[in-house]
Amino acid sequence: MSEPSLTITDNRTGKSYALAIEDGTVRAMDLRQIKRDAEDFGLMTYDPALMNTAATKSAITFIDGDKGILEYRGYPVEQLADKCTFLEVAYLILFGDLPNEQQLRAWTYDITHHTFVHENIKTLMQAFRYNAHPMGMFISTVAALSTFYPDANNVGDAENRLAQIKRLIAKVPTIAAYTYRHNRGLRYIYPVNDLSYTGNFLHMMFKMTDAKYTPNPTLEHALDILFILHADHEQNCSANAMRAIGSSCVDPYSAMAGAAAALYGPLHGGANEEVLKMLSRIDNPRNIPDFIKGVKNGEGKLMGFGHRVYKNYDPRARIIKRVADEVFEVTGRNRLLDIALELERIALEDEYFISRKLYPNVDFYSGIIYQAMGLPEAMFPVMFAIPRTVGWLAQWQEMINDPEQKIARPRQIYIGQSRRDLPKRKG
Ligand code: CMC
Repeated sequence: MSEPSLTITDNRTGKSYALAIEDGTVRAMDLRQIKRDAEDFGLMTYDPALMNTAATKSAITFIDGDKGILEYRGYPVEQLADKCTFLEVAYLILFGDLPNEQQLRAWTYDITHHTFVHENIKTLMQAFRYNAHPMGMFISTVAALSTFYPDANNVGDAENRLAQIKRLIAKVPTIAAYTYRHNRGLRYIYPVNDLSYTGNFLHMMFKMTDAKYTPNPTLEHALDILFILHADHEQNCSANAMRAIGSSCVDPYSAMAGAAAALYGPLHGGANEEVLKMLSRIDNPRNIPDFIKGVKNGEGKLMGFGHRVYKNYDPRARIIKRVADEVFEVTGRNRLLDIALELERIALEDEYFISRKLYPNVDFYSGIIYQAMGLPEAMFPVMFAIPRTVGWLAQWQEMINDPEQKIARPRQIYIGQSRRDLPKRKG
C-alpha cells in the first residue's frame, strides 16, 4: 500500500503536489514548495490562536476532548488521583514513569530539601504593596529567582536543568504561601521537612501561634488530589508560553514567569477566581435564570464553563466535585455550592450550552473548595500555578530535548500600509 498522502492541486498554476500525511497531520513546511512562480515565497497556513496546528510532538499528556479523557504518560487521571501522591505524579510527568520506592524516597528528599528561599527573596516580597495581587507577586518572584541562580541559563546541560526543576517545584509552595501571608500582614512561616508537599504548604499558609501545626489529613489529601488534577494539560496557553519563551534558551525561571503570567488571565487559570466572583454576584439560586439570560445575550460568560479541547464533561471537574464533598465534611458546606450545582443543572439543560458543547471545566468547582479551606479568591490562580509548575517544566524539558524544535517564530500576513515616503517637512 502506498504511503498516506494528500494531493493538492494549485489552481493558479495547475500543478499538483503530494504531501505526506503523518500522525494525521501534514507538515506546514511542505506547503512552501507550492509557488506561483520562482519569486513567490511559497504557501503558508493561516491559523490564528493555533486552533488546528500541532506545534509539537509530545509524550506527556493525552486528552480526548470528545470522550472526556485525560491521561498523564498513559495513566488515566482518575486512577492517579485515587492511588498516587502529587509528588509521585510529578515524577511520572517529568520522567515518564512512576518512581519505585527508592526513587520516590530520593525525589521526596530532594524536593523537601530545596523548599527554602534566599532571605533576600523574602525582603523582595515584603516590598510589594500590602494588597498586591498574590499572582502578580508570584510571577515577579519566580522571575526574580533567575537572579539568584545565574547558572540556570546553561539550559543545554541536563544535570543543570534537573537542579532548577527541583528548585522550582520545591520553592513554588513557599513563594505562594508568602504571597498569602503578605496580604494578611502575617509573618512569613518557614518550611518544615517532616510534612508532605501539601501538608507543608498548609503549614506555611495557616500556622499561627501553635507550637506545631498539624494539617488536617482530609484537607491535605484533598489538596494533593487537586494538585494532581492541575499538574499538566498538554499544549494550553501557559504551556505554549513556556515552550515559546523557553525556545529562546532563556533560563527556566524567566520562562516560567511568562507561563505563570499566561495562566493568570481569566480565560485560563484566572477563571477559578472569576467563578467565585460570579457565584457571589448571583448570590441566590433564584437569580440564576436571569443570569443565564444575560450570558445568552452576550453580557458576559458563564465562567468555569467551556473548553477549547473538551467538548464533553471535563474529567477533572467530575473528580473535583467528589473532593468537594470530602472537604465540606470538615469545613462545613460552602453556600456557593448550591448556586454552582443549580447553575450547572440549568446550563446543561439549556439549548445554548448544549449546542455549543459547553460543560463545567476544572475551574468551576475548584474555587469553591479553596474558599471552604479558607483561601481568598485572589489566591486561586496561585493554587493553580503551584502544581502546574510540574507540567510547565516537563513541557520545557521535552522542548529542549526535541531535535525538531527551534526558536518559536510564527509568520504573519502583513495587512498594513504598503511602502510610502515621509511627507516633505519644512526646514
Ligand atoms: N459562557 C458562555 N458562552 C461561552 C462560554 C462560556 N463560558 N465559552 C464559550 N462560549 C461560547 C462562545 O461565545 C462561542 O459562541 P458563538 O459560537 O455563538 O460565538 C462558542 O461558545 C464557542 O466558544 P469559543 O470562545 O470559540 O471557544 P474557545 O475554545 O475559543 O474558548 C474558553 C475556550 C475556555 C476560553 C471559553 O470557553 C471561555 O472563555 N470559558 C470561560 C473561561 C473559563 O472557564 N476558562 C477556564 C478554562 S479550563 C482551565 C484551563 O485549563 O485554563
